[in-house]
Order: sequence, then C-alpha cells, then structure tokens
Amino acid sequence: MNNGDSTVPLLAARDLTKAHGATRALRGASVDLRAGEFLAVTGPSGSGKSTLLHCLAGIVRPDAGSVTYDGERLDTLPEKRLSELRRGDFGVVFQFGQLIPELTALDNVALPLMLGGMPRARAQQRAGEWLERFGATGRQALRPGEMSGGQAQRTALARALVTGPRVVFADEPTGALDSLATEQVMTALTRTAREAGTAVLLVTHDAQVAAYADREVRLDDGVVAAGVAV
Ligand SMILES: Nc1ncnc2c1ncn2[C@@H]1O[C@H](COP(=O)(O)OP(=O)(O)OP(=O)(O)O)[C@@H](O)[C@H]1O
Ligand SMILES: [Mg+2]
Repeated sequence: MNNGDSTVPLLAARDLTKAHGATRALRGASVDLRAGEFLAVTGPSGSGKSTLLHCLAGIVRPDAGSVTYDGERLDTLPEKRLSELRRGDFGVVFQFGQLIPELTALDNVALPLMLGGMPRARAQQRAGEWLERFGATGRQALRPGEMSGGQAQRTALARALVTGPRVVFADEPTGALDSLATEQVMTALTRTAREAGTAVLLVTHDAQVAAYADREVRLDDGVVAAGVAV
C-alpha cells in the first residue's frame, strides 16, 4: 500500500485512448496523481476532461492504455472488485445529474454511509455535518428538484466526501456557483482534503478554481498538452 510516498503516484494513467462512437475523446492521455495531492485538470470543452476523470475513477474502461491505483490495474479489474474499490476508496462528483431525485439532501449524503452499514440516525447526523461544511445548512430537507444548481453541487460534494475516501474526483463542482460561493466551497474542499490527506482530481474551466490546486494539467484534444505551474 502506498502510504503517501510522494515519489510513487497513487493513481497513474498511461496512454489512455477512448472513443465514443467516431469521436476520439482520449488519444493517448497520461497523468499521475500522488497521495494527498490536489490536481486540477483544465482544457477546452470537448477536450476529454470528463472522459479522463471517468477512466481514472474506474467508471469507464479505456479502449487502450492502463490505469493503476495503489499498485493494482484498475482498467482490467473485474466489475465486482471495481465497484467495491469505488465505494470504499473513491468519492465522485459528476458534471451532470447525480443526486437521487426521491431523496432529500440529507438522505442523499447519508446514503453512501448507510450502504456501508451505518445506522440511519448516525449516518444522517454525519451527513448534516458535511452539508454544513459546504454551506448547505437549512437545505437538508430539499429534494434535488427543489434545489438550485449550486445547492445540488454542494450536496454532491458532501456526498462524495462523507465516507472519507482516499481520492475525490470532482467534475466542474463549482460550475453553477457564483464567485463567493465558489470560494466558500473550494476553501471547504481544500481544507477537508488536506486534513484527511485525501487526493483530489478536479476538472474545471475556471482559473480561480484551478488556483487552489497544487498542480494543473491541461488537456487538449484528448492528450495532456502541458503541466502548468500554479
Ligand atoms: N457518451 C458519449 N457519446 C458520444 N460522444 C461523447 C460521449 N461522451 C463524450 N463524448 C464526446 O467526446 C469528446 C470528449 O468529451 P468529454 O465529455 O470528455 O469532454 P470535456 O472536456 O469534459 O468537455 P466539457 O468541458 O464540455 O465538459 C467530446 O467530443 C464529446 O462530444
Ligand atoms: Mg466535461
């Protein structure tokens, strides 16, 4: 197990390719994420950022190339082991539609804990603390259809972090927030990740958001174009 030796990446993608039909979303993308590191992935719309995040998080299998997590090949892992690993080690905030519409904010955040066997009352208490951390106090009873885009994203972030994952993948988590709310959410995310030693891979269009990262890589047309100093 890699316990934070900063020279060994916790997660490594090598030469990933992935096509959606005729569209070549990834054309040989390589990226490393070290334990506890906060990496921003930027790049123009359609450059493959979400596809790369999905491959790294074990949600989408690449057509070629490899993804290695903690010494284990993710891209060839059987589905059962992969979903265990995703549930235990990863938290994901998707770019679009991710909350369960029938559940309140509180229950959406409590759900991953309950799936892990925690009793409902305790899971809800912890979920409430996480919503508060992301500035969603007083919105706990709302269902996703009643939330603003920003409230939904805060709820999704709280849900991704509530289980204490080793890696959080967040795809445009501040896309629907104004700049004050962005600052509030990014401060909470950065502080929490640092305290818990959680690695963060965050996709963003926003230079204000990328500035929170330790490091930035830019995707261009399905390949990593550059490492950018931040
Ligand atoms: N499910 C899909 N079916 C068909 N094409 C897809 C699918 N998902 C992505 N694509 C295409 O693959 C390319 C890369 O998409 P991707 O969503 O990874 O880009 P992105 O960098 O995240 O863009 P954005 O900044 O707009 O979210 C785009 O041309 C997109 O249209
Ligand atoms: Mg995207």
